[in-house]
Amino acid sequence: MAKIKVGVAGYGTIGQRLADGVALQEDMELVGVADLMPTLSIRALKEKGMPYSLFLVDGADKSKFDELDIPVSGTFEDLVGRVDIMLDSSPGGVGAKNKELYVKKGVKAVFQGGEKDSVADVFFHGYANYEKGLGADYLKLTSCNTTGLIRSVDCLDRAYGIEKVAITIIRRVSDPGDYHRGLTNALQMEKAPSHQAVDLMTIMPHVDATGILVHTPVTHGHIITVVATGKKKITGEMALNAFKAHPRIRIVSIAEGFLGNASLFRYARDLGNPRGDMYEIALWEDSIVESGGDIMYAINIPQESVTIPESIDGIRAACRVQQTREEGTAATNKYLGIGKWK
Ligand SMILES: NC(=O)c1ccc[n+]([C@@H]2O[C@H](COP(=O)([O-])OP(=O)(O)OC[C@H]3O[C@@H](n4cnc5c(N)ncnc54)[C@H](O)[C@@H]3O)[C@@H](O)[C@H]2O)c1
Repeated sequence: MAKIKVGVAGYGTIGQRLADGVALQEDMELVGVADLMPTLSIRALKEKGMPYSLFLVDGADKSKFDELDIPVSGTFEDLVGRVDIMLDSSPGGVGAKNKELYVKKGVKAVFQGGEKDSVADVFFHGYANYEKGLGADYLKLTSCNTTGLIRSVDCLDRAYGIEKVAITIIRRVSDPGDYHRGLTNALQMEKAPSHQAVDLMTIMPHVDATGILVHTPVTHGHIITVVATGKKKITGEMALNAFKAHPRIRIVSIAEGFLGNASLFRYARDLGNPRGDMYEIALWEDSIVESGGDIMYAINIPQESVTIPESIDGIRAACRVQQTREEGTAATNKYLGIGKWK
């Protein structure tokens, strides 16, 4: 079968990781990446020897790239004309504008969480609704928190049935290296219910979800606590068994030294993972507790890398590379090396 040709729009925090993830898929070809400015990430791409071809979006000043000797392979339209599907990781809202070109060129696209839901035909998660994405032209991926949250809730739901969840999100305020949120030292409340709970209900309408989000001045991952009500009582052991079997969930414990989000970021760096990334969410075994009939647990969300696997699942569904979630997610996992810690 011919390789699926993929392009990435926006080589920022998410785009760099999408490009690296696609490059690892043996049944896909990364045709190139597109951006607007010679950002530090683009300068790093050049210093790495341009492993990916760079294309410039409308409004880019090519002379700025020339001054830095950054090779440019063509325009955004050239890139879109050469691919089967675009992964759009431009700043929130810009993807909707880029979509006009995708429609004109008859090219499929997977958008990220910062876009409005209306940008896509299907709001997508590789594990929870892969089949809904089959053959779809435009998918929107869930946000980082929602992606990880749904992994764990869908895992319990498929194993035992879930009726209701209530979540608390302790949200990292910005990505490492960002200055645009200032030098902060405060917690900030968001109006309830948080969008992640509402989004979960869009993808899993049979689960009643609500939640509260608190912004925190940290950058190395979000933590979400979940209280889940099963159709029947789910014991701690039942929950742990289901989580252990999920390829994109890593079970960790405080006893091992995983004290919080920073331990996981450091562990990913010690593993030699590029940029300290982790594709999997971590779930603390020693956070799993029963509360009456409910089960409660805490997960860590590596916000910069968690949506990469489900985005690639999106390519597989949209291009009908695999027909089922089991086959689609398994192929993505194989090429990304997911689950090798199991
Ligand atoms: N950062 C996270 O933790 C995170 C997690 C999950 C999802 N997301 C979502 O991913 C998307 C991208 O976020 P990010 O954090 O990677 O942003 P970013 O600001 O790090 O990167 C965006 C990149 O797009 C480029 N760009 C600007 N205009 C463009 C255009 N017209 N066409 C193509 N590229 C353009 C910018 O120069 C920049 O390099 C957003 O929808 C965001 O909500 C972000």
